[in-house]
Amino acid sequence: MQIPNWPISTDRELELLREVLESGRWGGHSDFVKRLERAFADFTHCAHAISAMNGTVTLEMALSAVGVCPGDEVIVPAISFVSTAMAVSRVGATPVFVDIEPLTFNMDPERAAAAITPRTKAIIPVHFGAAMADIDRLAPLAAERGLALIEDAAHAQGSEWRGRRAGSLGLAGSFSFQNSKVMTAGEGGMLTTNDAAFAERTWSLMDQGRQPGGGWFHHYLLGSNYRITGLQAAVLLAQLERLPEQNLLRTRNAALLRAELADVPGLALQTVPPQQNANSWYLLLGRVDARRMGRTRDEFHRALTAQGVPCTPFYPHPLYGNPLYREGGCRVEPCPVAEACIGDAFWLPHRALLGDAETTREIAGAILKACNEVFAL
Ligand SMILES: Cc1ncc(COP(=O)(O)O)c(C=O)c1O
Repeated sequence: MQIPNWPISTDRELELLREVLESGRWGGHSDFVKRLERAFADFTHCAHAISAMNGTVTLEMALSAVGVCPGDEVIVPAISFVSTAMAVSRVGATPVFVDIEPLTFNMDPERAAAAITPRTKAIIPVHFGAAMADIDRLAPLAAERGLALIEDAAHAQGSEWRGRRAGSLGLAGSFSFQNSKVMTAGEGGMLTTNDAAFAERTWSLMDQGRQPGGGWFHHYLLGSNYRITGLQAAVLLAQLERLPEQNLLRTRNAALLRAELADVPGLALQTVPPQQNANSWYLLLGRVDARRMGRTRDEFHRALTAQGVPCTPFYPHPLYGNPLYREGGCRVEPCPVAEACIGDAFWLPHRALLGDAETTREIAGAILKACNEVFAL
């Protein structure tokens, strides 16, 4: 099976890297960083983009910039990578874990609304796997209750909700360019926003408290050095050029796979909300109903990997099950859906959607086999 490896690079990365190397400005004040920020802001339909070392510090910067501090609460989904909650803890606030919807895998807006208290300052929905959280309900909720809406769009470079790009729908969007993401420089992150004052503040937090256009030795805020290098920016510019075409390829292959896998007893693939008109397909997610399929998620997972298809059997616990949060430091709302997903969900990485149509059909065949044939250990 010809499943492409990830990450992918071409001569374009080398060409831009050479330009940076020859410019003599390799650091965070390289023109390439500015070029990347402008290009990514345009890509996300935002006025501003602020780069940073990764998609964890971008969340911390966003929370700090809106003044979230000890004693405050921030609502996060119980299912995400740990950074969504860890960033809240890092600024001294309390993450409040709420349940997800059964098939979008995204924060349940009703559960988020029920978890709001006078201490709540922000909501961080995650566009999990690149399928978007229900912005039609979350944005009005945040607006009515005076909360900052920060999209954790680490997975969703290029996803669109009613024609508006992920990262442009709240106060800020936070992106990751870590090695597995749909555009990557190994590590990297970006905040996007249409709020000029927020952009200025987060830029300053990222660049040791300097002010845009201000002196090198003049520091106004308690920031840090979260700059990316010009070398990372060069790689990311090349990756961004290729992203629209790769998103389309993943979208075509996802449609093909989903058509081949429709109506398989006990297999439910992630639901993409009808308002979402573009998807970067970071993950191909699904759930196994063991009673209907006649096998457990773990048996399904083993059968699929035995055929050479990369598959992850979901997270080992909801975020609050991590040792970090088991002893407290968080508030946990009832999360029956998140807990059920731990035992029955899985994902394929996006590189499984970057092959040709024949490879995609082979993957569909392998999934069908993993669903239908009795798996012997
Ligand atoms: C949903 C989500 N948020 C945030 C992050 C953090 O990104 P980074 O690894 O760039 O710090 C990740 C990374 O995998 C993620 O999946």
